[in-house]
Amino acid sequence: MRIIGLKCRNCGKKYPIDPISICEDCFGPLEVEYNYEYIREIISRKRIADGPHSIWRYRDILPVNEKVVDLGTGFTPLQKADNLAAVLGLKELYIKNDSVNPTFSFKDRVVSVSISKALEFGFDTVGCASTGNLASSVAAHAAKANLACYIFIPDDLNLAKIVQTLAYNPNLISVKGNYDEVNRLCTEIAGYYNWAFVNINLRPYYSEGSKTLGYETIEQLGWETPDRAVIPAGSGSLLTKIWKGYNEFKDLGLIDEVKTKITASQSKGCSPITSAYRSGEEITPVRPDTIEKSLAIGSPADGYYAIKVMKESGGTAGAATDREIIDGIKLLAKTEGIFTETAGGVVVGTLKNLVEQGEIEKDERTVIYITGNGLKTQDVLMEHLPTPVKIKPDLKAFEDILKKMDKKIDADTYSGVESKVRSVRSKIDEQIEEQTEVA
Ligand SMILES: Cc1ncc(COP(=O)(O)O)c(C=O)c1O
Ligand SMILES: [Zn+2]
Repeated sequence: MRIIGLKCRNCGKKYPIDPISICEDCFGPLEVEYNYEYIREIISRKRIADGPHSIWRYRDILPVNEKVVDLGTGFTPLQKADNLAAVLGLKELYIKNDSVNPTFSFKDRVVSVSISKALEFGFDTVGCASTGNLASSVAAHAAKANLACYIFIPDDLNLAKIVQTLAYNPNLISVKGNYDEVNRLCTEIAGYYNWAFVNINLRPYYSEGSKTLGYETIEQLGWETPDRAVIPAGSGSLLTKIWKGYNEFKDLGLIDEVKTKITASQSKGCSPITSAYRSGEEITPVRPDTIEKSLAIGSPADGYYAIKVMKESGGTAGAATDREIIDGIKLLAKTEGIFTETAGGVVVGTLKNLVEQGEIEKDERTVIYITGNGLKTQDVLMEHLPTPVKIKPDLKAFEDILKKMDKKIDADTYSGVESKVRSVRSKIDEQIEEQTEVA
């Protein structure tokens, strides 16, 4: 048997595999306990490599026994980011681009696992409390699995996230309040109705889905961990599970060592984890005040464990202001061709800040986790973009405008970011020329 049961992360009390998430003795979070001795015997690099191109290639270490609900989640690209690296002065930078999942965020990982588990438990209704990305993912998987679905969101969500969620036809309830208030309401509702709330009563199974981001990173780096991982933190669950994924691969003998410094990134307007880590004090709940909605959790359920992981791994935590988030989104798009939502802007902004502060060293092999797609938060970006030029449909009109545009392009090109990319590129060109001459 691969799965032993549930175990309290605080006091170690054991529980059977049930739709429960909190220890009745100490109120600590419950976690899935695996039979690693058994798994070590069956798992291998080859067995994984021969598996499907989805999170289900890691099925041996996921808490689902029966049929899975799969929209094709996971095995997303790990892209070498030389242009962005040049701008930031980093030697080796990779982007784990999880914005290309079926519903355009990493949440499909946790939802594919938890909705599969909900079916296994025999639930006919699923739901969630969401900061936006979970909403569309749960609604999509519920549609695929023919389950009734109730989604609860704060009423200030980005329009695109609401539209996307509604398209999958769930019951969508917009609550006048922030995420923490929505979450509290859902915890009450979960107690009254026999429904599977993926991030409440199914949380031990749900959170395991995030480990696959850690597994994939290792596999795609050629069975090695990075020196540094910069991860967005809302509840803090994702961060702790990427760390768990790295360590499980080591414990299972698939890699020799884990050398990664785990680094949290949050929006300055909602940074309870980063603030606590940096001050060395306990987490103090905050009221979010930021354009960044995906990570806007003022009272982070896994914050305590996230801080523990940062300390244990020798990592750190940083934050980005709203302005830096917007700049981060634009920087990633124009250097690497990846359009991310605000959570990705937080990651890029935090990376930039920590490199500038010398907290991330330039020669560290760094992976940043881009967990959501830019199409989801167009509303916050729109006012920070130029308006497109409009012309009459004739050649003369185009030529007139082209002259003006050439000037503008030249001005932009030789300032700031582009000039750095250009100077690196021209150095490479010079080297190539020299080599060609020698040859
Ligand atoms: C795009 C995105 N990235 C990261 C996170 C953070 O996840 P966690 O709450 O597990 O820290 C979220 C949470 O909703 C998210 O939507
Ligand atoms: Zn306990």
